Amino acid sequence: MDIRKITVLGAGLMGHGIAQVAAQIGKYDVTMRDVERRFIDNGMNMIKDSLERFVKKSQMTEVEMNEILARIHTTLDLREAVSDADLIIEAIPENVELKRTTFKEADAWAPPHAIIASNTSSVSITELASATGRPEKVCGMHFFNPPQLMKLVEIIKGAKTSDETIQTITETAHKLGKETVLVKKDSPGFIVNRILIPALNEAAALHWEGVADRDDIDRAVKLGLNWPMGPLMLLDYIGADTTLAIAEVLAKEIDPKFHASPGLKQMVKAQLLGRKTGKGYYEWTQK
Ligand code: 3HC
Repeated sequence: MDIRKITVLGAGLMGHGIAQVAAQIGKYDVTMRDVERRFIDNGMNMIKDSLERFVKKSQMTEVEMNEILARIHTTLDLREAVSDADLIIEAIPENVELKRTTFKEADAWAPPHAIIASNTSSVSITELASATGRPEKVCGMHFFNPPQLMKLVEIIKGAKTSDETIQTITETAHKLGKETVLVKKDSPGFIVNRILIPALNEAAALHWEGVADRDDIDRAVKLGLNWPMGPLMLLDYIGADTTLAIAEVLAKEIDPKFHASPGLKQMVKAQLLGRKTGKGYYEWTQK
């Protein structure tokens, strides 16, 4: 199937990056939708900041930047956002009920041929698909943060996803300059988060137990495992709330051994979520 128009639902940390990559690398006509104007403005500002970095490094001209920005339309209206989309990528908060309602509404208003993909990291694709009348056209399309720089997209097959849908999404992800892996079964955490989240949780536990200081935990993993950033910084970067949500799904759905550490829970209770609230294990400035 030929994808021409992509709609991204959600202008947050992931949504804005996915919309940018679709307009910048894929040269798609993109619509980015969120529920409040301030979220859209914030998303567009993050896109501009990101594009300006490429311009400053002479990797892009200002004309190209403006062309990319002109390919991104924004709206608050879900119906308008999806009514002529070929592909809808959902990147709204990790709340099952909110996602199911959004899938149901998108299904009602999107053209019959449209594929609805979710960027979820913790909700079952099969469960989202069951909120629609087109489960064969629903799959997972999981980007990594920041989507502008991270090469991988995990493609997840729900219980009823068709091979044709997987093929179209794989081709589209390649057009966005991404490498893909196929997750054959809709299993919590897919591949990367099943491995990553327990590691971040253990870093939070080490810190909570006072086994080592923040900087030593991060330096140990950076230098000992060659990670680009330490686990506590990465936890801040992803958000303690998102990390906790994924840990809880892993514990509930796969094995209690994945249970969240008190240290991680404490960060969420204190709203020390990291980059998104300005403070977590580290202080985060606007950029
Ligand atoms: N847009 C454009 N350019 C950007 C950018 C953005 N959004 N963010 C960073 N950059 C550029 C910077 O300008 C800089 O460019 P330069 O080297 O030419 O000056 C370059 O990227 C490196 O940035 P920084 O110097 O600020 O910092 P780092 O060298 O640490 O790189 C990073 C930043 C790429 C984020 C790197 O630290 C990294 O790869 N971290 C790990 C990220 C990761 O693991 N992500 C996956 C999280 S898991 C996930 O997303 C799944 C979810 O479900 C939880």
